[in-house]
Amino acid sequence: MNASMIRRLEKWDKDFVWHPFTQMKEWREDPMVIIERGEGNTLIDAYGRRYIDGVSSLWCNVHGHCVPAIDRAIRGQLKRMAHSTFLGLSHEPAIRLSRKLLRLVPKGLSKAFYSDSGSAAVEAALKMAYQYWRHRGRFKKTKFLKLRNAYHGDTLGAVSVGGIELFHEIYRPLLFETFDAAAPYFYRDSFRGTEGGYARFCAKKVEAVLKKHHSEIAALVMEPVMQGAAGMLKHPRGYLFLLRRLTRKYGVLLIADEVATGFGRTGKMFACEHEEVTPDFLCLAKGITAGYLPLSATLTTDEVYRAFLGRYDEFKAFFHGHTYTANPLACAAAIANLELFEREKTLERLRPKIDLLSQELEEVKKLRHAGDVRQAGFMAGIELVKDRATKEPYPLREKKGHGTALRARAKGVLIRPLGNVVVLMPPLSIHPRELRTLCRVVRESIEEETE
Ligand SMILES: Cc1ncc(COP(=O)(O)O)c(C=O)c1O
Repeated sequence: MNASMIRRLEKWDKDFVWHPFTQMKEWREDPMVIIERGEGNTLIDAYGRRYIDGVSSLWCNVHGHCVPAIDRAIRGQLKRMAHSTFLGLSHEPAIRLSRKLLRLVPKGLSKAFYSDSGSAAVEAALKMAYQYWRHRGRFKKTKFLKLRNAYHGDTLGAVSVGGIELFHEIYRPLLFETFDAAAPYFYRDSFRGTEGGYARFCAKKVEAVLKKHHSEIAALVMEPVMQGAAGMLKHPRGYLFLLRRLTRKYGVLLIADEVATGFGRTGKMFACEHEEVTPDFLCLAKGITAGYLPLSATLTTDEVYRAFLGRYDEFKAFFHGHTYTANPLACAAAIANLELFEREKTLERLRPKIDLLSQELEEVKKLRHAGDVRQAGFMAGIELVKDRATKEPYPLREKKGHGTALRARAKGVLIRPLGNVVVLMPPLSIHPRELRTLCRVVRESIEEETE
């Protein structure tokens, strides 16, 4: 693309576009990067500058960009049809995907409901859980229990079960009431002891709420193993297992939001597998299409599904769905994604790369302002602090995470921080050489930004 065309596009962007989670005043003042192409684990901008995709295009890319098998699957489907409604009709890609997906997920999940974003997958789970209890005659079970700091998306239901003050507080008057419990955050918690002890300590906080309010609670919503947007907060081993036990004990459904953790990010296909847990709902999105097209799924059990069955005039149907529910192109991409996992043994090949990431993070831990470094498989967060001894955080206005990302970008690496937490979540396909470069650049960028 020539320079004058790029400048025109930049102007049109500023004239006509509103970007998500972006202070547009700053956006208009800052230099803009217009991405034109993808190649493997690299994105290439309109000037031809190359960047390692260090956060998988916001946590969704799995096998890299322009993967021939996925491109082919989408083109093949495109020759037949781009879209047909899923309301009152069906189609082969969604049927095949459902069968394939349900064979992969924790045992006991048997039905797939489709939407088109992670937020929408969570909304569907919330509404299903609420409606399930109504069909069971438990009319008081209308509330949800969430973990503090949680992030489950931006639609109002998902925001209601979210707890990130910075994003969510302003919408509070629009939201439904929830119960909450402190989430594990070992680095800033008072607990000192073993990992198992910490899991029990945190589970007790959840139990205290369940004990008191279980008759009003429809479901507990949580991200298993790693709370992503909360700041890459890793849960202690055993915590998920304990919460599953508690939700069973108190008759509360468990919604596992694996929008971020699903499809290999934690080293297993789904994070729930680490603790052999089957939730009542499993929410999937992002990596479901390998980061190609918008698709999400809310998977549930026969027990839940059956509660919605009845005569038409009992009006027990799930009155919910979107125009692009189960879009065939997206389903074709998702099938190709799952086939690639099998054919390329993606998870097996990931293991040494997870070890390499751990080694590289050891170097990051030595930095003067790296307060805590957290990793679950191929998800990592580096919490920058002003003072390591006191754990004093940087004031948000200093934008240390953002500053680090800008420096990394100038060195050919794209990352996007969460406040003061620098996030690394590369595509599973990243080459060890690229992974080393990614970590080196991030380390140098942190050093420059914080010294
Ligand atoms: C755990 C989790 N749930 C839900 C969402 C929302 O997904 P989407 O942005 O596709 O609506 C996200 C997005 O980052 C997420 O990380």
